[in-house]
Amino acid sequence: MSLKCIAVINFKGGVGKTTLSFHLATHLAQSSRVLLVDIDHQSSLSIVTMGADNWEHAVKNGNTCNRIFESFCKRNVQMPGVEIITKEPLKTHGWQLYPTLDIVAAQFELDDTEIEMASTTVGGPTVSEWEKRTLMAQWLDKIDATSLYDYVIFDCPPATKLVSQNALAASNYFVVPVIPDEMSSRGVTHFKQLVETKVDAKLEFLRKAAGISDQETPRHYAPNTKLAGIAPFMAKPAGNADSGYTNIHTQQLAALRRQWQSNVLQTVVKSLTGVPESMNAGWPVWSNRGGNVSSAVVTMMADACEEIKGRLS
Ligand SMILES: Nc1ncnc2c1ncn2[C@@H]1O[C@H](COP(=O)(O)OP(=O)(O)OP(=O)(O)O)[C@@H](O)[C@H]1O
Ligand SMILES: [Mg+2]
Repeated sequence: MSLKCIAVINFKGGVGKTTLSFHLATHLAQSSRVLLVDIDHQSSLSIVTMGADNWEHAVKNGNTCNRIFESFCKRNVQMPGVEIITKEPLKTHGWQLYPTLDIVAAQFELDDTEIEMASTTVGGPTVSEWEKRTLMAQWLDKIDATSLYDYVIFDCPPATKLVSQNALAASNYFVVPVIPDEMSSRGVTHFKQLVETKVDAKLEFLRKAAGISDQETPRHYAPNTKLAGIAPFMAKPAGNADSGYTNIHTQQLAALRRQWQSNVLQTVVKSLTGVPESMNAGWPVWSNRGGNVSSAVVTMMADACEEIKGRLS
């Protein structure tokens, strides 16, 4: 099996990117080798997955993805290697083992680094713009990710700036969690165009303009990032409609399906008790023994992840 890199991304905040990244990773890790990469400076995924103490330890030792990006703007920082990977992060806090799941943590300072990257030029301006967007792909080359993992999952921040662009430059697929509310259809259209024309096409333009040869192009550079799926997330089943959804969510879900057809996952992840509780406990819903998790929640989340897995081919 060859490596597949997936960006879980939406420029909107609070739509379920981190929740979906975590569940997709633990789902895939039941039969594959998975690397989660937290590239959101908020670091929620890192804290959930590693536990606060381990995360603080990793930050203190500089073992976060921040170093990948700092290597571009700080002369005294080298492109890191495998040392920034925290192996088996779930091992430390409970009963169920995920021995094939690793993580690269984020840290708050990643936000500062991104600002610094934007204003830093190394070498010619075009080469510099290319370099600062392909650091993640370079790092995957450096650690020979293809030999270590079957999947890399990027939990992106609610933005499409340089750090997210790095994830997209290294991703074969992107998954967009969407709350089916008023703005969602509009937002998805804008977002897909952005990935295709402002990120992928721009990268190819920069590569050619900078005269980057095939040999110089990172092996993990993936210029045609495909939409693997739009995942309806946190749909609210409260309200009067017979369908069980509120009217607005029912309407918007129908609008999404009309416009995006089979791009929209069949499974709708509803907003339900048990999901945030499990995340707080650092477990996917199917491993959270103590929490208030119904079998319906487990089935719903597992179905969504299995559907996404089926679309990664
Ligand atoms: N299916 C669900 N049911 C109930 N709550 C959920 C569900 N999915 C996510 N949440 C909660 O909604 C909040 C936002 O989710 P999450 O952090 O995954 O979004 P995000 O898109 O990663 O946010 P950000 O843009 O800040 O990174 C969290 O508190 C999470 O626990
Ligand atoms: Mg998040």
